[in-house]
Amino acid sequence: MNNFIFENKTKVYFGKGCVQEYLGCLTKKYQTIMLAYGGGSIKKNGIYDEIMTILTAQNKKVVEFSGIMSNPTYAKVMQGAELVRKEHVDMILAVGGGSVMDCCKAISLAARYEGDVWNDFWTHKGVIDFDILPLGVIVTVTGTGSEMNGGAVITNEELKIKTGRDYPACNPMFALLDPAYTFTVSKRQMASGGFDILSHIMETYFGEPNENNVSDDLSVALMKNVIKNLKIAIEDPINYNARSNLMWDATMAENRIIKLGKQTDFEVHQMEHQLGAYTNCNHGEGLAVLHPTYYRHIYQYGLSKFKQFAIEVWQISEEGKSEEQIALEGIDALEKFIHEIGLPSSLKQLGLQEDIDLKKIADSCNIIPTSYKPMTHEEIYEIFKECWK
Ligand code: NZQ
Ligand code: ZN
Repeated sequence: MNNFIFENKTKVYFGKGCVQEYLGCLTKKYQTIMLAYGGGSIKKNGIYDEIMTILTAQNKKVVEFSGIMSNPTYAKVMQGAELVRKEHVDMILAVGGGSVMDCCKAISLAARYEGDVWNDFWTHKGVIDFDILPLGVIVTVTGTGSEMNGGAVITNEELKIKTGRDYPACNPMFALLDPAYTFTVSKRQMASGGFDILSHIMETYFGEPNENNVSDDLSVALMKNVIKNLKIAIEDPINYNARSNLMWDATMAENRIIKLGKQTDFEVHQMEHQLGAYTNCNHGEGLAVLHPTYYRHIYQYGLSKFKQFAIEVWQISEEGKSEEQIALEGIDALEKFIHEIGLPSSLKQLGLQEDIDLKKIADSCNIIPTSYKPMTHEEIYEIFKECWK
């Protein structure tokens, strides 16, 4: 394994009733709380009322910041930062999925910084040598794992760039994870978020070193758990055990633990982010379209790992087959799973318009040097065309 330093400052409270039990205590020392959320699902499913009851019982001043969109924009971040300053907010409570959590991490930084936030923290990796605004999160949809990392993926609409940075200083102070809060998530978003989890684990697993290591062994266990429970959760939306497993799988996939001692290959995320910057497509759905084709481009450069993936994750039999055949059958099994859970399998199905400039999008993608086969912009363009179907 490669050398590493590990830190994660987020304290996690997991399980049914955790918001009722702990939120009051966790917000005790703050007076003005910005309650940030998305398009309103929390008002329909009762989560908003539950939280407001707790906060108002403590006489908190609550400043609402709603309408955080999927693929949150830099403009929305700056709007939130302005509201924080105007209302003298001393803590942000983000209630939602990756979009709300990411937007709020960026707000907590932007509200305490006078310079050019985009340039100094998203264009380049910056240095946070000041205290950012305290942030706590309540997760309502499983997928990104944003609750236990410092990552914030923000879309700059003017520049047409969607990009993420992971700053340990931006890790939430606390994360409340109640799997029952995700019962009302639609099948479509459940499949999308579930595939995002799988994608995070795969993109971590397919990276050096290839010899046996505990991070990869954990990844195999997590991938099998996601596959099993995602099928159950889609069939039976109120299956608490399946939702619990997926919720913790998502956190484990992105809390840095399975990345320790490893290189990773987040090239598909880079491609999806730029597709998102140009089309605002759904994150997990975009990943589902791209993965099998990308893997068919790189598997020969990491053949033993792709073979292991086929055998250990998809139970492909080895008998009478070459290493290459086994590896390819693993990728086929992944593609079949994507189909089974109802995710799109082409850019056309993803809703992209015929006249979209795929070359321009391909040219705007970041290249990950630690891929088994680092891409060129030409090859990314080839992959996009193959994914058009
Ligand atoms: O906005 P509302 O009305 O709340 O509806 C949301 C939204 O439409 C809905 N939803 C959330 N909780 C619900 C619910 N519907 C019913 N019942 C509930 N309990 O779900 C929809 C999707 O929410 P969103 O937050 O956009 O999805 P997700 O969690 O997949 O986040 C996607 C964003 O996170 C970024 C993505 O790129 C994308 O911008 N990512 C963040 C990462 C990180 N910080 O570590 C890593 C990821 O790879 C990813 O890039
Ligand atoms: Zn993702």
